[in-house]
Parts: sequence; C-alpha cells; structure tokens
Amino acid sequence: MRDPESLATAEPIYARLAEELSELIGNGQLRPGERLPSVRRLSSQKRVSATTAIAALRSLESRGLAEARPQSGYFVRAAALRVEEPAMTRPSAAAKAVGIDNVMVRLLDASLDPGIAPLGTALPDPAWFPAQRMRRAVAAALRRNPELLSACNHHYAGREALRHHNPPRYADLGCAVAPDEAVVTNGCTEALNLALRAVTVPGDAVAVESPCYYSFLQIVQKQGLKALEVATHPRDGLSVDALEAALGSRAGRSVKVCLINPNFSNPMGGAMPEAEKRRLVQLCERRGVVLIEDDVYADLQHAGPRPLPAKAYDRRGNVILCSSFTKTLAPGARIGWVFGGRYAEEIRLRKFAASGATSAVLQEALAEILRSGGYERHLLKLRRAYAEQVARMSAAVREYFPAGTRITQPAGGFVVWVELPGKADSLALYEKAIGEGVNFAPGPLFSASGRYRNFLRLNCGRMWTPVIERALLRLGQLAECRQ
Ligand SMILES: Cc1ncc(COP(=O)(O)O)c(C=O)c1O
Repeated sequence: MRDPESLATAEPIYARLAEELSELIGNGQLRPGERLPSVRRLSSQKRVSATTAIAALRSLESRGLAEARPQSGYFVRAAALRVEEPAMTRPSAAAKAVGIDNVMVRLLDASLDPGIAPLGTALPDPAWFPAQRMRRAVAAALRRNPELLSACNHHYAGREALRHHNPPRYADLGCAVAPDEAVVTNGCTEALNLALRAVTVPGDAVAVESPCYYSFLQIVQKQGLKALEVATHPRDGLSVDALEAALGSRAGRSVKVCLINPNFSNPMGGAMPEAEKRRLVQLCERRGVVLIEDDVYADLQHAGPRPLPAKAYDRRGNVILCSSFTKTLAPGARIGWVFGGRYAEEIRLRKFAASGATSAVLQEALAEILRSGGYERHLLKLRRAYAEQVARMSAAVREYFPAGTRITQPAGGFVVWVELPGKADSLALYEKAIGEGVNFAPGPLFSASGRYRNFLRLNCGRMWTPVIERALLRLGQLAECRQ
C-alpha cells in the first residue's frame, strides 16, 4: 500500500498536464487571451479522462494562469503575462555600515504570533513537508545507533552520511565538490557566518545585491563589515557590469567578498543568466574577491531544469557554496552545509570554534530520509506548490493593491517584491498592518542605506486560505489609504 506521506508519492496526471500547459503559457506559445484546448481535445490528444483534463484546467485557473468563460471554455489570462515589474535598482555607490535590527526583531517576533497573518518571514507552510515520515526517520536513526544522544558528538564537520549526500547532486550540475570539503552547519545562516569570517577582517566591505536578504546585512553588521550595494535586475539578478564598475571605484577597493543569491534571490527572485554567472566567477577571481554563493532557493525553480550554481564555473576554489534543507525538506531541522573551496580547512576550524558539531540525530534522520529515495519527486511537488502560491498571491496583489503597484515575477522560490506607487511608506504601512494582524517585510530591511521605502516583500510560502486572502485585501486597502 502506498504511504500517503511517502516522499516518493507519484505526481498526479492532471498536475503533469497542467504543468505542460503552464510551460506553453510561460514560454509564449499560448498567448494571453488565447483559448486553451477544450476538455474534449485535451482528453483525446493526451489520452486522459475528461475529469483529468478538467482538473488540469482548474489547476491553471487556481494558479491565476487561466480563466473560465461561460459557454466558451478556458482562456490564457490576459493579466498572466502583463505585469508591471519594478525597474533595475540604482543603489548608493558608497559602502555602508548597516542598522536594521529594530525592524527585523519586530518582523521575527510577529512571525511567532499565530494570530498574525504570516506574510512576513520567508518560511514555507509545515503542511508541504512529510511530518510522519520525519518522525519515523528520527526513530529509525536512534534505533540504528542508540547512542546518538548519549555519546559525545565529535563530528564537527558533519556526519559522513550527510556529507556524502550533496557532492553527487552537485556533480550532476557540473560542480566539483568533495565530501571532505563539506561542513554541515546549523542552517545556511551558520554557513554564511563561517564563510564570511574565514575570508574577511572587520572593516572590510562586502558587495551584495540591492535589495538583498536582510540576514546578509545583519551578518555583515555583526561581523563589523560594511555592505556595498550593487544594482540588481528583478529577473536577471546582480548586474556584473555594475559590480565591475563598483570594484573599480574608490569604495570598491575595500571589497573582499561578493555575497549573493545567483538563483532566485531574496527578495526579488531574479536568476542570473548562465553566461553572467560565468562572468561573475571570472571577475571575482581576477579582482581577488571571494564569491560566497547562497544557494538555498536554487532547487525551487517553477519550471524547466534546475539552474546551475555559480560554483559550476569555479576552477580555482574561489567560490564558497552555502545552502540548507530549510526551504526544501525540513524547515525546523536547521541543517545546512558549506563547501569551502580553497577556504575549506579554515571554515572547518571555525565551525569547531563557533558551535562544535551540528545535531547528530537530525543529520542522521535526514540522511535516512534521503537514503530511502523520493527526494527528487518531493521537490517536484514542492516546486509546483510554490509556483501555484506565487501565482495566486501575485493575482491577489494585482486585484487588491492600488493601481500602479508593480510586482516581480520570480521564476523560482516563494517570495515576491512589491513596489507601491507614489510616495508610499512601507514602514508606516507596517505599523498599521501589524496592528490589524498582518505581517510583511518592509522594503528598507533589504538595504544597508534605508532604500526601498515604497517597497515590501511578501512571503507566498504559506498555504492559500481565506485568512491569507483577507490579509492581502486589507493590506491593499491600507496601502491605498496612504496614497
Ligand atoms: C537567501 C536566504 N539565505 C538563507 C536563509 C536562511 O537559511 P537557514 O534558515 O537555513 O539558516 C534564508 C531564509 O529566509 C534566505 O532567504
């Protein structure tokens, strides 16, 4: 009998069919306003039942990609591709000390309150993950090794089983990473901390995307570093031209590291074209700048193949790759990793000094789940769920937010970056929204220099419910009032 929670559960036929159609919409073969194939045609062409064809069309409708017209069938939604995006960013040319603690603490505290709609922190819904399967994996790990909790855990670089899991996956993506280069960490956050500490001294500057993930800025601040924000495109990610210019400027002289999300950056969701990743790796190498790549969202593309990490273009060990299972398999386990390239030994020593080993039970439990197979199929389902969430939330923003609102169209991950029109102030909006039980991440959190006051980031990772829809409606109304 099939375990309903098994990671290996097969993908339903209707979902595969919906995916095929959504790819045709995504690549423009089916254009906005065009009629989708009828139920009868779909079922005869694809040899599926009428019920399956209807389910596929409804799934497209719920993702905001299609609309049903009475007596006429399903059509590609006109709004599906006609979305105004924010423009390329134009950050300040100077490296800045960072100060965003206050807003961040409020955002995190609010995310712990079950009475507040969870549009703030970028965390997925627990329901996307196989809780029973995890419970059994923890029990199995302890059965296999009853001393996991009672014996000392000296494996400060990580358990063998987990250290060996990632290299073959990365090898398939063209990355030469070896198990002895890996350190298992407490989430990606520890990996980023260790990587930065290994290659900087206080006072150095770190080039980051603008806007960038607020924890990058926090870590930079807490390590006594400065952030140099670099122009970033909402779809194509960090501008390598802008980075090159920045490194050649006076402010760029103190830049020792470039710290970015090349695939599905947080908060804009952009992914760098492959040729740009190659240029970035070569530029960093030439300028003596270490590239720290945060890869946490890269497995979460909404369609097509998984994009390559920048590490795939690294020939000299100058790219440090950091990631975790937080967005993909077990958000609560806090298991991450770092492949340190030529800084691997330094990072390993720093891990020991910083926090000793990472939880042995949780590493073994995750290794157990990965060994038992089905991870790739679990990822397929998760990608579809995130794609659907992003489409629904984006459709709601278009419907409920003031005219002139712009929104990114990420091709992966589960956050969207929203630009409010006019002189909107997302910090003032935050005060009102939080008072009405709606959390979100105000734009200035994502900048070292207080930019993006008229922007906000929305988490789309939580299951679509009437509560989420009401929260978006209210947020849209409050944003309207501020114009
Ligand atoms: C870009 C990015 N990196 C790292 C993290 C944190 O990863 P972890 O929870 O594994 O420490 C997040 C979480 O939102 C993120 O968005």
